[in-house]
Amino acid sequence: MDLTKKEKAMLDGEMGEACAKAMEILVAVGKIYGAENMVPVGSVQVAGVSYKTIGDAGIEFLKGFADIGAKCVVPAYLNPAGMDLSAWEGMGVPKEFAHKQLEIVRLYEKMGVKSTCTCAPYQIGIVPKLGEHLAWSESSAVCYANSVLGARTNRESGMSALAAALCGVTPNFGLHLEGNRKAGIVFELECGLKDRYDYAVLGAYAGKIAGERNPAFVPKKQIKKPTSDMLKLLGAAMAATGAVALFNFKGATPEFAVKDGAEKITVEQKMADETMARMNSGQEPELIAIGCPHCSLDEIREIAGKVKGRKLGAKKLWVCTSKVTKMAADAKGYSKIIEEAGGRIVADTCMVVCPIEQMGFGVTGTDSGKAAQYLPGFCKQKVVFKRLEEML
Ligand code: F3S
Repeated sequence: MDLTKKEKAMLDGEMGEACAKAMEILVAVGKIYGAENMVPVGSVQVAGVSYKTIGDAGIEFLKGFADIGAKCVVPAYLNPAGMDLSAWEGMGVPKEFAHKQLEIVRLYEKMGVKSTCTCAPYQIGIVPKLGEHLAWSESSAVCYANSVLGARTNRESGMSALAAALCGVTPNFGLHLEGNRKAGIVFELECGLKDRYDYAVLGAYAGKIAGERNPAFVPKKQIKKPTSDMLKLLGAAMAATGAVALFNFKGATPEFAVKDGAEKITVEQKMADETMARMNSGQEPELIAIGCPHCSLDEIREIAGKVKGRKLGAKKLWVCTSKVTKMAADAKGYSKIIEEAGGRIVADTCMVVCPIEQMGFGVTGTDSGKAAQYLPGFCKQKVVFKRLEEML
């Protein structure tokens, strides 16, 4: 790879052992993917935070870096952890899990990674610019950053994202290069799209077909311009049922470019209906978990409106979000309405990376295509994939 003088100095250990190790990781990744050089990044988002996903081996890896003085040189932010960091005791999170989780967050903080603990950093003021290069790793955040914001990031692993945070650069390949950002498949939409759930279902369907290709969406009927929350759910679902990291949506995303000869598929309502039916277990949820990706304040306001004055009885309701958004929801009174109905706002974590299977839950309801895809495998859950109001 063609490294700058500064990057060579990092690799040679002139900026410390941690930086040298991190640069070795970046060079190795770059060589695998044929990168010719590195590109500076504006920010880093680090996945691999929950003890459930990284385990003891992950803690050892992080200790290895923290103990040799690793320090971030660009702003770096954490993905959700395995529990609400301040309310875990009242939620039935096993103690041993909690202590390991707190250790993981402490190690990241020691290296200078901010414990934002959200998969939607763009909802709490971390909004990359059009064309800005990043090294983000949470798949839904990557999809949103590339597609809705027009930033440039590959789907980093937790390890390569941390290495980028320590060196301030990432290998220049994949979606950092303009030529790789065109759509390879076009979905022409004849189906109805009225709310966030419809976009989650479309994402679950389209991701499976698109695989690793960049999809483009072209509405063939009059629809209201999708909101950022709708696009967030669309991208998250495609990143889970496929490996989509960038999509274009005619009239709604800042970029729209299609390759010559791209495949075309017409999406009719019956395809969306089949997707809903396929992903539903048909059982009654014990836990209803909304907020995959993490809820925005707008979404929490809507949820509060739907549960106001109701009593959920034995069913639990989790509204997953960042601690920053939770504070805003507390201030607006939305948290109180949700709590009076029997639900709770859960910060720092989500239904997938929290050990819900160890906390007594076996059937989880969600309106997220990503959560519906992951809950059976990651959390041993039977899934109900419906709108919130259909599960209350
Ligand atoms: Fe975020 Fe958890 Fe979903 S990390 S995208 S809420 S699986």
